[in-house]
Amino acid sequence: MKENLVIPNHVGIIMDGNGRWAERRGLSRSAGHKEGAETLKKICLYAESLGVKYLSIYAFSTENFKRSKAEVDFLMNLFIEKFTKEFQEIIDHDVKVVFSGRRSPLSKKVLDAMDQLTRRTENNTSLVLNICLNYGGQIEILDMVKKISEQVLNHKISLDDITLDIVSSHLYQDLPPLDFIIRTSGELRLSNFMLYQASYAELYFPKTLFPDFLENEFMEAIVEFNKRIRKFGGNV
Ligand code: FPP
Repeated sequence: MKENLVIPNHVGIIMDGNGRWAERRGLSRSAGHKEGAETLKKICLYAESLGVKYLSIYAFSTENFKRSKAEVDFLMNLFIEKFTKEFQEIIDHDVKVVFSGRRSPLSKKVLDAMDQLTRRTENNTSLVLNICLNYGGQIEILDMVKKISEQVLNHKISLDDITLDIVSSHLYQDLPPLDFIIRTSGELRLSNFMLYQASYAELYFPKTLFPDFLENEFMEAIVEFNKRIRKFGGNV
């Protein structure tokens, strides 16, 4: 069956449900995030083995700073630990890691870990893992508008030069459009995730909580993607 499936080029995952996964087991929310990070590694390697070329994941939204200090601190430390010590298997599989989001107010330690991982993987070619961290889709569009406006004001480009290619290349990362967005845990929202890139993405909302979203569930998602008829505004 696998051989005949169309594999989406760019998949986005909103990794929702870590907290509920932990609470249902009588564990702290942190335990859910930790397990979620394990699932992420497995899904990234599996997606790469299937031929997915771009995987964008929502690790931390600009709004997630509203969570308790303890949870935010835990997540930031988890990012540092994963990026500096535990991403080796991902690196060994030739995955290139890039980040999307605002740098401020992330701490120097987090930024250093992100920059180090970016540098270590910059020549890898099998799959691009785009980690959305301190990311908001509306703010990404706002930042893009500011960058392009600055160029116009400095006479580097004229208004007529602004094309969709120019817009795309002034987002945080110049990525192809999302083909497929998966949000786990049954919530039916995009929550500010890659709004520009999501324009014609197929959406899929499995009820599974993210830590349980393992290879078999990812394959089910791909099978579902293959049932969709994509029209891109045309009529077939
Ligand atoms: C949403 O679930 C999840 C997050 C805000 C954090 C996602 C982070 C990870 C999966 C860890 C990723 C690790 C790396 C290395 C990038 P929730 O906590 O809102 O779940 P709930 O809705 O059940 O409370």
